[in-house]
Amino acid sequence: MNDLSDRPSQTETTLDAMARMAADGNAGWTTLPPDAYCNPEIHALEVEHIFKAGWIAIGRADEVAEAGSFLTREIVGEPIAMIRGQDGILRVFSNICRHRWMKLLDGRGRKAVITCPYHAWVYGLDGALRKAPDMDQHPTFKVDDIRLGQLHHEIWQGFVYVNLDGRAEPLASRLSDLTPRIAAYGLDDWVTAGTVECFMIPWDWKVMQDNGECYHHAGLHPRTFQDVFPGEEAGAVTGNDWTMLWTPARDSLLETTASGETLMPDCYFEPLEGLDDFQRTNFMLVYVLPNFFIYLQPDCGLLIRVEPIAAGRCNMSGDLIVPRQAQALPDYQERLDRFTAFFNRFNDEDTPVNTAIQKALESGRGGPAPLSHLEAHNRHVAWWVASKLAGATATRTKSKS
Ligand code: FES
Ligand SMILES: [Fe+2]
Repeated sequence: MNDLSDRPSQTETTLDAMARMAADGNAGWTTLPPDAYCNPEIHALEVEHIFKAGWIAIGRADEVAEAGSFLTREIVGEPIAMIRGQDGILRVFSNICRHRWMKLLDGRGRKAVITCPYHAWVYGLDGALRKAPDMDQHPTFKVDDIRLGQLHHEIWQGFVYVNLDGRAEPLASRLSDLTPRIAAYGLDDWVTAGTVECFMIPWDWKVMQDNGECYHHAGLHPRTFQDVFPGEEAGAVTGNDWTMLWTPARDSLLETTASGETLMPDCYFEPLEGLDDFQRTNFMLVYVLPNFFIYLQPDCGLLIRVEPIAAGRCNMSGDLIVPRQAQALPDYQERLDRFTAFFNRFNDEDTPVNTAIQKALESGRGGPAPLSHLEAHNRHVAWWVASKLAGATATRTKSKS
């Protein structure tokens, strides 16, 4: 009779399936096993091997343009703060006091110094402790020895990324083959026009990634996307830690600019100069794995940031970004309102679907799903996640022997 303890656990079965997928490059063209989207043990491995080990988008450098301006985030349970110093340098700190661990800053704002709300220790914007009241009788304590924990960050195209474990390969090199593809947009010089604040979404970060394809335009977004950008025309290219998708606007809807160039319809602001034909007539989706999604068109963009909080649960925010000069348009606010309404419209279409999918995944029914050629992004994401966890599988196998 078999001893129950000899049977592989659900987690081991899922990790074994993922290891096979990593090894064969997802030759089977499937999603990950449903269990991978809702298993807390798999989530814990993702936190370690993906979210702490990789580069996580936390916002835009222009959001903290002034000395003293800051914004805070929580990435896989770790409070962090992005702050511009008096010296103009952007830094990312652990948002935890070095005394008894109180969270130092909340939300976003501007400060001359950082004062802990618990016992009023005071830090400079460079993270150095300046004052610690009533610590003078401590036998070894020295104010000068103490600094806030500083985290590795990189700014890519104006987007700020943080690496929690400090061991990731430089982001710029991971994205070196993506950067030239979007260089013409000059995203470094775009500005954040508004943020649809963080809210909890009841689905896994990988469901969010899966929803990034354009295959569902016809089924789910007939008016919002398919009428203009037919999903069956979508193309995709994938790289190290990224995917880029594009969908051309229907020929019959293309407009002609005053200078005789073709342009996709539905621009909310003025199209950028210097874009090529392809960039003016396609809408682009650029995904840097694991948590950065950008929708990009010739005149504006939308950055979606996803922060997992548990298996099957995330926080999500949307940042509307525009070329700096768009802000000078006389009817800028009206245009921005229309762009925001568009985001809300398609997000309202996606939300019930993603919610239903997570419920279905948690029901334990079904197996890995077959993928269309229009879901090349999904295939890449499944392979990428499986590859990141392949080391975890090896460690388990080794420890059992
Ligand atoms: S916890 Fe910050 S000063 Fe005590
Ligand atoms: Fe969608």
